[in-house]
Amino acid sequence: MATQLSPIDKAKFVAAKQATQYVEDGMKVGLGTGSTAAWLVKCLGEMVEKEGLKIKGIPTSSRTAALARDVGIEVISLDEAKWLDLTIDGADEFDGNLNLIKGGGGSLLQEKIVATVSDQMIVIADAAKSVETLGNFPLPIEVVPFGWQTTKTLLEETLIGMDVLGRKVTLRMNGDAPFYTDEGNHILDMHLNRIGNARKMSLVINQIPGVVENGLFIDICDIVVIGYGDGRVETRDINEGSVEENRHDFVETENLFADLSD
Ligand code: 5RP
Repeated sequence: MATQLSPIDKAKFVAAKQATQYVEDGMKVGLGTGSTAAWLVKCLGEMVEKEGLKIKGIPTSSRTAALARDVGIEVISLDEAKWLDLTIDGADEFDGNLNLIKGGGGSLLQEKIVATVSDQMIVIADAAKSVETLGNFPLPIEVVPFGWQTTKTLLEETLIGMDVLGRKVTLRMNGDAPFYTDEGNHILDMHLNRIGNARKMSLVINQIPGVVENGLFIDICDIVVIGYGDGRVETRDINEGSVEENRHDFVETENLFADLSD
């Protein structure tokens, strides 16, 4: 069945495809969450089926776990894995130092734990996620439901002393009801427009009672693979200080492109 991919989906697909080159037999691989990570899981599933790739996947959300099982990837828990070779995940924003905002899909807590215990973290993204300064994307904060309005007030007060261009904090909703994460928590989205000092912001926010974790990933990502709608891929490696360009062609009749849902 022929499928017409949008340029943005092509960009996400080629980034995911390129990142599969880092995956080797026997690896324990952290599987990210979101539409770009879903492409990766599909690509890996195809490698398991067609090339006999042997990996164990550690998903970062119930959504990703379901998709991974669906495409034939062996899924194990983080406690079974203990330490991972590699995590590949999407991001909402990345800057020149490969610091990230994540959590647009509400899975930042599991994503941060899994990425932190991985030898290497690779982000796959379309070029629109590249920013000079983090903060245009609302920063997600995972908070416990108990007293979440008090936690919101404490967050707003903390922002008064910070280098930001906005201070609005909103409770993430799922239709008419508050959104719940896989861990049973809420998400507060902070509309900051610009985060002048992301490292300080991350440290300060995590001191507030009621906050479980924030969506800033500082010094966690090693490599970002940026996809473009025309099939080009750029790979930036922060440790090597290298930038590499590649290209992928599409065969849009592959099963891989059918019925992908995030
Ligand atoms: C989920 C995330 C995602 O990686 C992020 O939201 C990017 O998603 P997408 O690939 O759909 O743009 O952090 O919590």
